[in-house]
Amino acid sequence: MPKIDFLPDNKIYESEQGETILRTAARNGIPHVNACGGEGKCTTCRLLILEGIENCSPETETELSLKSKVHTTEEFRLACQTTVTGDIVVRRLVLNKEDIASVSQAGVSGRLGETKKIAILFSDIRGFTPFSEKLTPYDVVFILNRYFNRMVRVVEENHGTVDNYIGDGMVAIFGLNNEEHPVQHAVKSALDMCAEMDDMKPYLKTMYGQDFDIGVGIHWGEAVVGDIGAGRSKRLTAIGDAMNFASRVESANKQFQSRVLISEETHNEIQETLVIKDFMRTNLPGIEGRVTLYEIEDIDFSSDEEKDNERIEEDVLWTKCSEIETFEENKQQVFKIKREDILIVNIDDYFFALNDKCPHAYLSLEGSDIDVQNETIACRWHKSAFCYKTGEVREWMKISNFQKMLGKVGLNAEAQEIAKMEKIPVDVYRTKIQDGFIWVGMESE
Ligand code: FES
Repeated sequence: MPKIDFLPDNKIYESEQGETILRTAARNGIPHVNACGGEGKCTTCRLLILEGIENCSPETETELSLKSKVHTTEEFRLACQTTVTGDIVVRRLVLNKEDIASVSQAGVSGRLGETKKIAILFSDIRGFTPFSEKLTPYDVVFILNRYFNRMVRVVEENHGTVDNYIGDGMVAIFGLNNEEHPVQHAVKSALDMCAEMDDMKPYLKTMYGQDFDIGVGIHWGEAVVGDIGAGRSKRLTAIGDAMNFASRVESANKQFQSRVLISEETHNEIQETLVIKDFMRTNLPGIEGRVTLYEIEDIDFSSDEEKDNERIEEDVLWTKCSEIETFEENKQQVFKIKREDILIVNIDDYFFALNDKCPHAYLSLEGSDIDVQNETIACRWHKSAFCYKTGEVREWMKISNFQKMLGKVGLNAEAQEIAKMEKIPVDVYRTKIQDGFIWVGMESE
């Protein structure tokens, strides 16, 4: 078997037939840099052949094209592309202490970087500057943190990783650690984020007399993924044109007055699960040629865990919510079902499910007063009362309460408008107990 003499390690190992020099090094514990994981996508595994160049395999097309980018001579070969038929002497190009540190941090078999397909989500707040101009810096930070708390939870529930914050924008990556269904999760995350935003708006309107919206852009493409940075700020992240593209897709929301836009690559990957609202051909700054973007209305995708908690019976979608026992402590609990917040209340061991948004100003009904005799639930904000069995309106907010509140926070004419709204019943849903769990039934669409 041919032998490889590795310098500066001064170690000689046999190379198996067809084995690359990089593989021989890795098999024998030689810490050889390979930022792309030995896939022929970088030149970091370059080494100098000191003797026996004639025993090296001819340069592959991949190697030639990579070498042309770094202008090396023929004695330099890529360890991941080269096999040997006879003895050689090589010098690894770990030349300074930074190289040694980066190799030892990643471990002998660790990958310093790799090119992989990931789904990249960019989000941005629309109208945040005018919103924040009227507030104190303290309020701005408070609102932003509240907003990010919600959005990060959504991303993480959808198996994504928040990669970065850029002002009021956020970057999230799906598939960074080989999670399943990264594209579906990214799109679902975007739609869930919009639902969270809608849920937050009444609060913003009530507290600050104004609100804002979000735009989300998604691209599915190749990026270089690796531990980037130094010291304690070093972390697994992604770089490359795909990141830039995703950011451009997000920015196009402004032009098209849309909320969730995805690239054609994203669309093509999961098109059978998507409900498309619109599509457009456009130019994006810094991107060559026209591109097609799709505006997304919905996605038909449930994770395996969600599927286990769902059953369809006679056109009713039943969703498992909670073990009965957990209700002992808390008589009112909110569950997310199909992007709706559903409030379940336990009244004398019967369970009633209502949409958690009070139809008056869309604030949460959780914590409302229950009147068992009159079978009503009275919203704690302005005391609108609804029958918790049928949803019908029994009282449409007590004006005096609302005016008191208006006086306190000094709200404007918009809030007065809310007071004049038509009376709308609250949505109620069926419930049943099965296998010790509470299930909520919704008519399937
Ligand atoms: S939000 Fe419920 S009564 Fe106003």
